[in-house]
Amino acid sequence: MRTQVAIIGAGPAGLLLGHMLRAEGIECVLLERQTGDYVLSRIRAGVLEQVTVGLMERLGLDARMKAEGLPHDGFNLADGERLIRIDIKALTGKEVMVYGQTELTRDLMDATAERGLEVIYQASDVALHDIESDAPYVTYSAGGAQQRIDARIIVGCDGFHGPSRQAIPASVGQGFERVYPFGWLGILADVPPCNHELIYANHEHGFALASMRSHTRSRYYIDVPLTEKIEDWSDNRIWDELAIRLGPDAAAHIRRGASLEKSIAPLRSYVFEPMRHGSLLLCGDSAHIVPPTGAKGLNLAASDVHYAAEALVGFFKANDADAIVGYSAKALARVWKSERFSWTLTKLMHRFPEDGPFERRMQVAELDYIASSEAAQRSIAENYVGLPV
Ligand code: FAD
Ligand code: DHB
Repeated sequence: MRTQVAIIGAGPAGLLLGHMLRAEGIECVLLERQTGDYVLSRIRAGVLEQVTVGLMERLGLDARMKAEGLPHDGFNLADGERLIRIDIKALTGKEVMVYGQTELTRDLMDATAERGLEVIYQASDVALHDIESDAPYVTYSAGGAQQRIDARIIVGCDGFHGPSRQAIPASVGQGFERVYPFGWLGILADVPPCNHELIYANHEHGFALASMRSHTRSRYYIDVPLTEKIEDWSDNRIWDELAIRLGPDAAAHIRRGASLEKSIAPLRSYVFEPMRHGSLLLCGDSAHIVPPTGAKGLNLAASDVHYAAEALVGFFKANDADAIVGYSAKALARVWKSERFSWTLTKLMHRFPEDGPFERRMQVAELDYIASSEAAQRSIAENYVGLPV
């Protein structure tokens, strides 16, 4: 098979990019290792920035998001009994949209057939070849047979563990990494949220986040040491811990229910540079990971797609051979700012095992400052709603 752009991975980055290219009349094929149902079963992000909402609007795939998503104009930082509200609407004029990654992915998947976007599911042994040439190709197995797709450009949207980043020779790339000593244990349940806005809490017992997917479905997280096993966390144990960490006001409104899903995700900051090598571009988690504090991962994937689509339209439609050359620097400038914000918020809201009384006093001083300074709140709000692309 021959196409213009071979996209590896049909998570949110791959599907968004595929739709953007199809809308511009650029040929592309997506290769996904899993089934569509498996991709939809991964419960992940819940908060969308304007850049992500804007891409769905541009694609005309925003109807369900507009009908069912919850626009939020503020969120809260809790420290013990204190609650600091960040009024993102008043401080920035913008809002975020609470709409699950699963739903966004479903909307993108549901539109593939009608828009002629080809996705090959259950493609195994995907491998990239000749990425330093103008005629790269991808091989994979499907139904027991070896297949090949010839392309002009390959885009790696295959997440942190996919083959794309690994295809870039070590001599031309560099990874920057910070691993955290805890993970987030998440629980999803069909119960009303304990608060109408998100609460990120820093408590003596550790971090907690109260989030939601709708008025009847809640998503909560607590941080746990990486050595913890999900089997040791009964639903009740999680609800007990949330009630302690989120503080008495939120605890009074927590409704408990059976978990629809629970899992532990490790936290990591990671950036790979450059995000383009030869005929290969990287988008989303294949190039970078942020710790989830601050809700930046999916939104960064969307801003990468924005820059990549712009570069590929210039390359294929305006015959601008240089269009893809600037992609990496443009995308990385925004990536590093989101890395900084996620790292800062992670350090502010978690108790690190190596921290002592000094570090704790620093957290309290920082939270005091945020509580009393509109400038500090505006800085947080501006980053939370998403920096401009
Ligand atoms: P992925 O979603 O990982 O998709 C990659 C795709 O590539 C997958 O479908 C995978 O199956 C496929 N693939 C992998 N290997 C291969 C292969 N060899 N061949 C073919 N296909 C392959 N972000 C936010 O913005 N806001 C949030 O609130 C937020 N909360 C989060 C909470 C949790 C618990 C977690 C874990 C993450 C959260 N994130 C959040 C991050 C967000 O989910 C990710 O950044 C986002 O999924 C990245 O999208 P992606 O398409 O780049 O990668
Ligand atoms: C959710 C996840 C996040 O990482 C975050 O910062 C906010 C919300 C969520 O899954 O709802």
